[in-house]
Amino acid sequence: MAFSLLSAYENSAGSITVQNPATGAAVMTIREYSAGDVEAIVKKAQASLPAWSKRTGKDRAAVLKRWNDLILENQEELAQIITAECGKPLAEARGEVAYGASFVEWFAEEGKRAYGDVIPTHNPASRIVVMKQPIGVVAAITPWNFPVAMITRKVAPALAAGCPMIVKPAEATPLSALAIEELARRAGIPDDVFRIVTTSSPREVGEVLTTHPLIKKISFTGSTAVGKILMRQSADTVKKVSMELGGNAPFIVFDDADLDAAVEGALISKYRNAGQTCVCANRFYIQDGIYDAFITRFAERVASLRVGDGSENGTDVGPLINAAAVEKVNALVKSAVTDGARTVLGGTPDARGGNFYAPTLLADITPDMDIARAEIFGPVATVFRFTSEDDVVAQANDTPYGLAAYFYARDLGRVWRVAEALEYGMVGINEGILSTEVAPFGGIKESGVGREGSRYGIDEYMEMKYCLFGGLGN
Ligand code: SIN
Repeated sequence: MAFSLLSAYENSAGSITVQNPATGAAVMTIREYSAGDVEAIVKKAQASLPAWSKRTGKDRAAVLKRWNDLILENQEELAQIITAECGKPLAEARGEVAYGASFVEWFAEEGKRAYGDVIPTHNPASRIVVMKQPIGVVAAITPWNFPVAMITRKVAPALAAGCPMIVKPAEATPLSALAIEELARRAGIPDDVFRIVTTSSPREVGEVLTTHPLIKKISFTGSTAVGKILMRQSADTVKKVSMELGGNAPFIVFDDADLDAAVEGALISKYRNAGQTCVCANRFYIQDGIYDAFITRFAERVASLRVGDGSENGTDVGPLINAAAVEKVNALVKSAVTDGARTVLGGTPDARGGNFYAPTLLADITPDMDIARAEIFGPVATVFRFTSEDDVVAQANDTPYGLAAYFYARDLGRVWRVAEALEYGMVGINEGILSTEVAPFGGIKESGVGREGSRYGIDEYMEMKYCLFGGLGN
């Protein structure tokens, strides 16, 4: 299928051929940026900084709002591009485009409110003013699981703050990124202020971005292992970093929960994007009194999910991103079953073959199993039984990760106690999805540094400068 948003990027002599994970078919071939190309792009971004940062917040907001409108006007084609290269069902891809645009609209507004401060002085002859200024050129490295929204969530606050940004999208999903860049051009965002660099050599390009002295900040979404490497590489030039890394989200259901709501929350939290989000529920802890009832009802709902090509009507669960992902998920499932897990549903690659994995439900999981510690990143729910609140909170926190956690309960005292005790950056209480542009998204522990979205998100791209105005007399 030819995409009109990508016509300027078609390059049959290029060296990156993007594949559809549902069919294995080639979607499109595009050019490759070398480390040397990226070096030149960094210099141009730096040259664009004075003019872009001097524009008023209102002026940048007008450009960003045009970008937001164009993204929404092109929602259908963008969704088709997402589905073609990332595999998620079209309905989810449409949702992602709207989610992605919401960050552009939000930060267009926030850019106008990047207020500083006047601090009551310590000396009558002086005044203290705090101003916020754009940090400088920013680089982002973005993942394949949300190939539009994870870009706009970083680019919009950077641009709103007055910073140029260079984005290296995931090797598997560069087309959505290019389509977003095309719309940015149409909206009037200057070429050097926002550049996508597509490459199949992520290490080399990543090294330029993380070590270049002109780049002042790195924003990354991806695995904890890669995040640690990027943090180390960024250390020599002391860059500010935002890291949105892996998770191992607990999803706890207490005896007093609304069971129907918990089952629906579990379904969406686990099987969205075929389980390939950092905030997907990864470990289900169900209290004794409702353990069997929860599994029966959850299994009924999981069994109703339709596996298929994301472009087919009625598909709930698309393919995994590639064969390696299927192998990894399958190995975790096999090892759990060998260690005593009970297969309630699935447990194998899907009968369709290729990159499809059957929606799977495993019960009677114990903390010593490999699957209890790994970020599964696939359509596999693992269920643990628990008895006491203290015990389940300890188990939920027993991980180096701290991104998202969920729990269902109705007792008000318990709700507060558990919300406060969970060591996570985000907690969904009686909700299975917590992503929105208005709230701060991010993790603690080895799940990351910094927050995206919300009124806090723009601060990641600004420096605070304290000015002491002295000699003013009394
Ligand atoms: C992610 O998986 O990294 C992001 C998920 C979201 O924003 O909901």
